[in-house]
Amino acid sequence: MADLEGLKVAKDYHVDTPFANQDGFFLKGANSLDWGMKRHLSNIFNPKSGNTVMFAFDHGYFMGSTSGLERLDLLLPKLAPYVDCFMGTRGAIRTCVPPHLTNAVALRVSSGSSMLQDDLSHEVVAVDIEDSIRMNADCMAVQTFIGADGQLSSLDNLNRVINAGMRYSIPTLGVCAVGKDMARTDKFFKLATRIIAEMGCQIVKTYDCENFEEVVAACPVPIVVAGGKKLSEPDALKLAYGVMQKGARGVDMGRNIFQSTHPVEMAQAVNKIVHEGYTDKEAYEFFQDMIHS
Ligand code: R5P
Repeated sequence: MADLEGLKVAKDYHVDTPFANQDGFFLKGANSLDWGMKRHLSNIFNPKSGNTVMFAFDHGYFMGSTSGLERLDLLLPKLAPYVDCFMGTRGAIRTCVPPHLTNAVALRVSSGSSMLQDDLSHEVVAVDIEDSIRMNADCMAVQTFIGADGQLSSLDNLNRVINAGMRYSIPTLGVCAVGKDMARTDKFFKLATRIIAEMGCQIVKTYDCENFEEVVAACPVPIVVAGGKKLSEPDALKLAYGVMQKGARGVDMGRNIFQSTHPVEMAQAVNKIVHEGYTDKEAYEFFQDMIHS
């Protein structure tokens, strides 16, 4: 391991220079993957825009029933036309997503904590690769806690899932979790997203932060951004627009869609930003038109 003394701070991100090793496939970092991986990634990311709207409804895996997600069976079919990918647990997906819906599936495969605990950073791999294959998962999502108590075991979980995914050509989505003692700084996200990408996952999920474009530039695989706590609709759309402008390849949004007064219209408005280049203001006008029509 390199000596940490005298370590220089990274600064040359070349944020205006496109990723260099990208001939042949539209997604960053995926050039050397095989057909099956690329096919799964193309199910998640629209090959035309290169972007994705993931709808995150995996909150129940540690929060139980959450406001807005009480009836997944009613909500998910309504959102299906406007989101590229459903991100959830196998329990929620098997029971509430009708199999004729062809949205991509981001299957949460790590779990083990609940909101009743103070420290959520200890998880295990709960879903084996055979069940991910049976569910036709397009990627497997693993919570990863850099700098938290559970760092070692969460990196072990991540690597086990990546190893299994490499055997069967299923991508892994590394979810960058913010441990209770971590601050949401660009310094933390640069460290954590890069560590997660270097483990070998094909997609990283993280949060917006200052200098987000540098986080993106230093991460050799596509980044999707979590929505985080519920904001007003204009603010949530501003978040989505801002991260797309700074190089995210999509959003993995939960509460800002399912806790909106109008989840379906909100999903449509986010879709306009992610795939059609709407600004946040144009998307909010669209949202208003939709809810008043
Ligand atoms: C992450 O680990 C959570 O389970 C959610 O998938 C994630 O936080 C995205 O949802 P939200 O937009 O509500 O933050």
